[in-house]
Amino acid sequence: MKSIENLNHIENKKILLRLDLNVPILNGKITDTNRIDKILPTIKFLLSKKAKIIIISHIGRPKGKVCNDLSLEPITSYLKQKINKKILLIKENIYNLKKEDIFKNSKLQIVLLENIRFYPEEENNDDEFSQKLAGLGEIYVNDAFSCSHREHASITRITKYIPSYCGIQINTEVEALNKITLNIKKPITCIIGGSKISSKINIIKNLIPKFDNIIIVGAMANNIFKYNGLKIGKSIYERNLNSVIKEIFSHAKNNNCKIYTPIDTKVGKKLNDRSTEKEFSDIEDDDMILDIGPKSLKEILSIIDKSSSLLWNGPLGYFENSNFSNGSFEVAKHIANKGEEIFSVVGGGDTVAVINTLNIEKKFNFVSTAGGAFLEYLEGKVLPGIKALN
Ligand code: 3PG
Repeated sequence: MKSIENLNHIENKKILLRLDLNVPILNGKITDTNRIDKILPTIKFLLSKKAKIIIISHIGRPKGKVCNDLSLEPITSYLKQKINKKILLIKENIYNLKKEDIFKNSKLQIVLLENIRFYPEEENNDDEFSQKLAGLGEIYVNDAFSCSHREHASITRITKYIPSYCGIQINTEVEALNKITLNIKKPITCIIGGSKISSKINIIKNLIPKFDNIIIVGAMANNIFKYNGLKIGKSIYERNLNSVIKEIFSHAKNNNCKIYTPIDTKVGKKLNDRSTEKEFSDIEDDDMILDIGPKSLKEILSIIDKSSSLLWNGPLGYFENSNFSNGSFEVAKHIANKGEEIFSVVGGGDTVAVINTLNIEKKFNFVSTAGGAFLEYLEGKVLPGIKALN
């Protein structure tokens, strides 16, 4: 990949910088700043070269509609503090913007475009929209490894219309993951959790030949419980996934990969409820499974003890409520305490938030900002965003 670091003479050049500023926000406040902190070197590098920066990012999944709760405002305020510079959040519709007007105020060096997923064209990888975006700058930089598995306008199609480079963070992540996948020692265990069921369930099938154990937890596991005829009350799950799950199990059998799912639960009636331990047979219609139970935790810790390498993406429960954080926190602490005994790689916004809350990031061998992209990279796929830069 051509790197921005090798570019000279970019003074006053307008750089379209695609970042992943999709950080967790609760009541308007950022609860984990990791993804923003990791890309500060790229912003500082461009500032030192006196370039003009137009940041493009998404947050959440607004599905092509303007949604005030998913504005980049809190992120703009945080960036202002970190960089100590004036930053303008441009809320004006992209189609009305003119390249020459963006930095009319000559002292301004950074602007952010409002959440790019407010436009349906972004996820549709729309050609005209990509061209319009590209027309706002002179150079495009992708430093959003965690979005590079998405074939979206500001990740892939835009590169057709503007000289394109990779940023500093994307290079770091790709190099680290390459090293890891080449040198990884067996037995390898992968923990996959979180709530993005449809994004990840298909990936599991392709990961099976590479792992000895796959532990499916979080909302991901609800579909498997349902498939196995267990009660899940009103827990989230996705329809029409039975054939994928069937394939996962038969593929796992053929490849000698063991699939584990929790054997007991902690439930609540709503997200901010207290937690109650329950066996599946006791789950009521209005219960939501929000964490693993003690028997499951014991089993998962013993699988970790028998592993030489561990890859983890996605929390084990709704850790945002401390009544349901036990599974995620205990697993995180257990891995951290194993020190040199295990090679550990963690990825994904929420999983990284778990380990940052416990302040144990340094105890893991590598921490990736990426979740879905991290898993797809492990599958051995060339991510579309990276392919576009090549
Ligand atoms: C992530 O959080 O993994 C990235 O920001 C991509 O988000 P998405 O799964 O909504 O595309």
